[in-house]
Amino acid sequence: MLSSISRASAMSTSRNTLNAAAATRLSSIQRHLSTTPSAREGKIERLTVFGAGLMGAGIAQVGAQSGLKVVLSDVTDKALENGLNIIQKSLARVAKKKSPDDIEGFTSKILKNIETTTDAGKAVEQSDLVIEAIIESIKVKRDLFGFLDSKAKSDCIFATNTSSLSVTEIAESCSKERQEKFAGLHFFNPVPAMKLVEIIRTSQTSTSTYEALKEVTLRMNKSPVTCNDTPGFIVNRLLVPYLLESIRMVERGDATPEDIDTAMELGAGYPMGPFKLLDFVGLDTTSYISQGWRDKAEAGQISKELVQPIELLDKLVKEGKLGRKSGEGFYKVSHMIE
Ligand SMILES: NC(=O)c1ccc[n+]([C@@H]2O[C@H](COP(=O)([O-])OP(=O)(O)OC[C@H]3O[C@@H](n4cnc5c(N)ncnc54)[C@H](O)[C@@H]3O)[C@@H](O)[C@H]2O)c1
Repeated sequence: MLSSISRASAMSTSRNTLNAAAATRLSSIQRHLSTTPSAREGKIERLTVFGAGLMGAGIAQVGAQSGLKVVLSDVTDKALENGLNIIQKSLARVAKKKSPDDIEGFTSKILKNIETTTDAGKAVEQSDLVIEAIIESIKVKRDLFGFLDSKAKSDCIFATNTSSLSVTEIAESCSKERQEKFAGLHFFNPVPAMKLVEIIRTSQTSTSTYEALKEVTLRMNKSPVTCNDTPGFIVNRLLVPYLLESIRMVERGDATPEDIDTAMELGAGYPMGPFKLLDFVGLDTTSYISQGWRDKAEAGQISKELVQPIELLDKLVKEGKLGRKSGEGFYKVSHMIE
């Protein structure tokens, strides 16, 4: 690329002059970038992850794999142990593909990038980026971020992995300055395998914060997309109403779950029909999200018709038919995809 630029520039003196001017301007921009606060914000080297559950363990793992120094924090040593177990098992699977001759060496090299602690204040002392993946409770998340605000460096970026809560409401637990460095970073399950990350910008998120988050997700080998702070962001906003409408079709007797799955797999090219997906995600989770959205519908943030209660869904959840996790949902476990 550079050599073809040089060849072209040699063709005319005036172009040479322009190139020289452009080079001067470029080096001045580079000098400026290397000294401005926004460039420093972009240099994320130390990541702290809160919550060592399913999502937090996955985020810590992909962070460590991308070369970041990671601190993983949870409320108990047992939870941290559980998180490290999840990471170890997942890394062994990655190592089988990437380094089949030295699985242990590969795994231990990445694990060296991960420290653990139950001391939340200490966990963020050095951090450039905090990603929170704790339980889905607005109060618990706000309490945590409110506490961390005074413990973390002033240029540390805060991100939440919430699926269904308002990023803005969580960010408001912090100072005005921190709210500019606050965004949603929504990973998908299982984190090491799923390429997508939704970056959620609130009205306060600064451009330099957004750019730094984009850069770090690319470094984690993910594909970031951007969305405003709206219910369900992109994926769930489209997916949840589709899943709910599929249940309504069965409730009305329009078609069977099997035929709807076949139709969407063969007719729409979806890898998995809605009922297989519902059983995979968990009927309780879908019911919980739609309940949360009914509150948002009351506040006019989403159309009420999309999230009307569904008797069939409520009945199955009450009966404990939650999908894969309970052995039965719309399908019996023996019919479920692995
Ligand atoms: N599970 C999914 O498919 C999925 C997908 C995307 C986003 N999310 C979101 O990610 C977050 C975590 O979900 P998960 O499925 O990993 O949950 P999980 O239940 O597996 O793990 C949550 C962890 O947070 C810990 N925790 C609770 N309070 C804490 C605190 N104050 N400080 C530190 N740790 C604390 C718990 O001990 C637990 O280990 C939730 O906000 C959820 O909505 C989940």
